[in-house]
Amino acid sequence: MSLDGKVAIVTGSGRGLGLAYAQELARQGASVVINDVDAATAAEAVAGIEAAGGTAVAVVAPVGPTETAQLLVSTAVDTYGRLDILVTNAGVLRDTVLWKMSDDDFDTVIGVHLRGTFTCVREAATYMRANEIAGRIICIGSPTGQRGNFGQTNYAAAKAGIVGMVRTWALELKKAGITANVVVPVAATAMTATVPYFAAAVEADTAGEPMPAFYRHDLGFGTADDVSGLIAYLASDEAGDVTGQAIGVGGDRLQLWSHPEPVVTAYHDGGWGVQALQDEFPALIGEHQQSVGERFPALPDDLQRPRS
Ligand SMILES: NC(=O)c1ccc[n+]([C@@H]2O[C@H](COP(=O)([O-])OP(=O)(O)OC[C@H]3O[C@@H](n4cnc5c(N)ncnc54)[C@H](O)[C@@H]3O)[C@@H](O)[C@H]2O)c1
Repeated sequence: MSLDGKVAIVTGSGRGLGLAYAQELARQGASVVINDVDAATAAEAVAGIEAAGGTAVAVVAPVGPTETAQLLVSTAVDTYGRLDILVTNAGVLRDTVLWKMSDDDFDTVIGVHLRGTFTCVREAATYMRANEIAGRIICIGSPTGQRGNFGQTNYAAAKAGIVGMVRTWALELKKAGITANVVVPVAATAMTATVPYFAAAVEADTAGEPMPAFYRHDLGFGTADDVSGLIAYLASDEAGDVTGQAIGVGGDRLQLWSHPEPVVTAYHDGGWGVQALQDEFPALIGEHQQSVGERFPALPDDLQRPRS
């Protein structure tokens, strides 16, 4: 597999998962447009890729507005002559329970993740279609978007929305040979470093030691580098028939997420009035109610850490 001659944009790639994706795409031969709001980390990312023999350029601008999407695509085309791969990774959190979430908390997260994904993909797909490039759109989801999570109304809305958009884009872009997929990562980064459940794994990673097998295997939680192989694979020619999928990866685990399907289908001649529902709903649907929330296996005693 090689990405030689291909050009990629990775949003939010100054640090964390985005940086790991950019480094891996560059290692596989792609020229990369680094993007971040933080100029220093963006410059460091470019320097690191160049020092490793790769090719990169930075665009310091906030993902969300259309102008940034236009600047990202024009930088790729003006600097490297084309655009083949877009990874929409930039993200922020504003976690709090529903009754404490402000309009600003909601709009900020929706603006970067959902609107930022929409504007960047619209710009990239428009360019790829016009230039007959069988491009690769890789958007970043989250277990929260798949199943919900306490304290993350805004983030759940954005990440679930991204999966919905990607399914739609897989349909709309199929004829042009452009694939669109969601990667659902779980990894030790600044975003997860403060979660007490992950503390022992982050501790090991920071010390340069391998993460405990419980995290890598049972939980599917590892380093940012554990996620980047899937990004590069989906970006390659080999993955040309993979589209419209939500694929989870973390630590030693790879998962294909199902798309929603009806689990119970029932008919009532003349339709479902209140009386028919009262009579039949409990037996038909009541016991089949679906679970919500991420599934966290119990943390073994030796991996328990006190809350800071
Ligand atoms: N870490 C995980 O386990 C995990 C799990 C599920 C999903 N994700 C998703 O992966 C992505 C990366 O997360 P991470 O853990 O590396 O986070 P991170 O906070 O370490 O990195 C996010 C990067 O995005 C940049 N950024 C923020 N707002 C931006 C904007 N408007 N425009 C451009 N750049 C911006 C930040 O400066 C930072 O460099 C996010 O979309 C996140 O929701 C992460």
